[in-house]
Amino acid sequence: MKTVILKPSDENIALCAEAINGGKTVAFPTETVYGLGASAYDTKAISEIFRVKGRPNDNPLIVHVASADAINGLVREVTPLAEKLIARFMPGPVTLVLKKSKSVPDQVTAGLDTVGVRMPSHPVCVKFLRACNVPVAAPSANTSTRPSPTCAKHVLGDLAGRIPYILNGGHCEVGLESTIVDVSGAVPKLLRAGGISRDEIAEACGCEVEIAASGKVALCPGMKYKHYSPKAEVYFSAYYSGMAAGIAMQYDALTSAGKNPVILCTEKNAGYYGTRNVYDMGADYRDYAHNLFYMLRKADADNFDSVIAEGVPSDGIGAAIINRLVKSSGGKII
Ligand code: TXA
Ligand code: MG
Repeated sequence: MKTVILKPSDENIALCAEAINGGKTVAFPTETVYGLGASAYDTKAISEIFRVKGRPNDNPLIVHVASADAINGLVREVTPLAEKLIARFMPGPVTLVLKKSKSVPDQVTAGLDTVGVRMPSHPVCVKFLRACNVPVAAPSANTSTRPSPTCAKHVLGDLAGRIPYILNGGHCEVGLESTIVDVSGAVPKLLRAGGISRDEIAEACGCEVEIAASGKVALCPGMKYKHYSPKAEVYFSAYYSGMAAGIAMQYDALTSAGKNPVILCTEKNAGYYGTRNVYDMGADYRDYAHNLFYMLRKADADNFDSVIAEGVPSDGIGAAIINRLVKSSGGKII
């Protein structure tokens, strides 16, 4: 099968929607990362997503819709907490976990009694979902374990020959996946940090947000797998005042051992590293998040065999950056 990257013209969006309704999988842009979609009601197409990605069967998919009304048909109850988060953050980079209705096939939710629902804001995505006129189940459009794709070329790199179309929506604005909040009960639970922070969720809910304990129960099944891994070895620094000196030492130790490392650093620190290889991640932590998966893939393309990522403060978007880099580094924290 030849995989084609399509410009987001009305005709091409209609073509992609037709493919979805004809039982095919299509990659599409969102403001977080690219998704690999299929009709949520088509169990054969859903299995194809798992096959194409090499995704474990016990890892549920998020269902994407174009309007808040469409959520009603997917869930048993839109809880008061869900209503608050829908009003504040949808469309946007958030996924709500609610008790699923019978219309959602078990293949989508990997047998769970809940379903993740998301209403993206990316204009091309909104047009695409409207044209599909069915809810679209989609994981990130990378092969399993790879960093999520933030541009059409990344998707092509991972899935060429395995899907017919990639709808091109440019570079994803947020660059990290959505914040996932379980609002099926009385207390909101943060299942995955993302573009919208825990504090913002708490403020909108008007109460504290629990952090789901990782490890014990697989509340967010996907988080237990190896994730976000480029071919290069990733090291992640803690965030402290002497961080740049510590990173420079690690860099020099790697080069002495014959390695070829690159440092991911904020613009203001770039000068500190002298002639060492750096990728400038931008002026602030929003930029850092936006560039993170892009730069992890660029490190492979530029033949670096090691990446050392600067640490970031744990508030705001920082929590999501830390979550992804801890996983990406397999816990190699320096
Ligand atoms: O921003 C995003 O969320 C992107 C775009 C494409 O929408 N999607 C995405 O999907 O990141 P994926 O499949 O790569 O990650 C979804 C995560 C997985 O860790 C999965 O286990 C979790 O969401 N998840 C899905 N449904 C769930 C449910 N009912 N309960 C708990 N976790 C769920
Ligand atoms: Mg993913």
